[in-house]
Amino acid sequence: MPKTFDLVLSGGTVVNHDGVGVRDVGVRDGRIAEIGNLSAASARERIDCAGLHVLPGVIDSQVHFREPGPTHKEDLETGSRAAVLGGVTAVFEMPNTDPLTTSEAALAEKVRRAKGRMHCDFAFWVGGTHDNVANLADLERLPGAAGIKVFMGSSTGKLLVADDAGVLAILKAIRRRAAFHSEDEERLNERKPHRVHNDSSSHHRWRDETVALRSTERLIRLAREARAQVHVLHISTGEEIAMLASAKDVASCEATPHHLTLSVEDDHARLGTKLQMNPPVRGHDHRAEIWRGIAQGVVDVLGSDHAPHTLEEKAKPYPESPSGMPGVQTLVPVMLDHVASGRLTLERFVDLTSAGPARIFRIVGKGRIAAGYDADFTVVDLKRVETIRDSWIASRCGWTPYDGKTVTGWPVGTIVRGQRVMWEGEVATPSRGEAVRFG
Ligand code: DOR
Repeated sequence: MPKTFDLVLSGGTVVNHDGVGVRDVGVRDGRIAEIGNLSAASARERIDCAGLHVLPGVIDSQVHFREPGPTHKEDLETGSRAAVLGGVTAVFEMPNTDPLTTSEAALAEKVRRAKGRMHCDFAFWVGGTHDNVANLADLERLPGAAGIKVFMGSSTGKLLVADDAGVLAILKAIRRRAAFHSEDEERLNERKPHRVHNDSSSHHRWRDETVALRSTERLIRLAREARAQVHVLHISTGEEIAMLASAKDVASCEATPHHLTLSVEDDHARLGTKLQMNPPVRGHDHRAEIWRGIAQGVVDVLGSDHAPHTLEEKAKPYPESPSGMPGVQTLVPVMLDHVASGRLTLERFVDLTSAGPARIFRIVGKGRIAAGYDADFTVVDLKRVETIRDSWIASRCGWTPYDGKTVTGWPVGTIVRGQRVMWEGEVATPSRGEAVRFG
């Protein structure tokens, strides 16, 4: 009796805990049922993956999809369409929407809007504030909650907990790992005179290294005091990498493709306010140190910090121009290009985009190509050469800082719980994203 599967991915090079090798993967009921030679098996659907690599589904744990609120920049449908076109199978979305995601009702509303409209799986970060600290222990355990996110320095939106006492109270109230935008508000305020009107190259001088470093130093101290686990988002300085290397008892951290790929020296003249981001993209020296953090295993995950704003908004004179750039659709091709150039191994890419988030956020049933896990796959062609164009971008903002960049390595398919949601640039409907589950 031949074995039967709903779906077999055949002949692809699978990258998982066993290493890298040509194998078939059989899927039943949305889960991985068997890995091996399944050429004799019967399958309702077979996808020929010969010549392609089958990676565990890429999880992007930091995106801003703007719904509810400023949906002229993005919404849950367009943002998740961009995600699956870029090979991303799950996203954790940020709470600086309007209304802010700071209550049970606001979280439930996001989950309601996501169902039937999001193309990938999802979780939503809940904003931690001075006002909702008493509710955070309950909020972080609700279905669809990724955990608590705190802005220690102000960025886009109104979330802010700038004081040590406020951060400590949050850390003492919660059990899960909380995520932090780590920039020191006091120093940001002191340095506002460094902003030069109509010159966004002054952005990284305003929000300087010490802004990030001072905040991360405070956060590590407070996490130790509260015996809490924290996650430092979007590392932008070499000094923080060194500091975080000796804080693995309490802190995990994220690097972004833009902090690893772009620099003020190479890209400001071309991009202007499109490069403007919090924390800022800095110089080659910091970029090199973040790469060192990748090589040394200090960095736990890659997140895109997809933060779309329209071109019209970006055209305002600095500092009226908003901070943020899109990135969920370009994370995979931009980072695979680093794999092609030898700066990153494919195994480390997989570690940073699937096993890493699963480990630090205790995601249930994702992050590995192993029997019993969700059948989430990012299928890539490591040899394919493509030029990234604004016209490829599905985000409502309609642009990318990588317009015109030629990359080697491309997402060919996105499979979420056994459903082929994207293949060769075609997105399948209806959308069937579900809430990510956590342990
Ligand atoms: O540059 C940024 N933009 N950094 C953030 O922390 C928020 C984001 C946004 O939402 O636009």
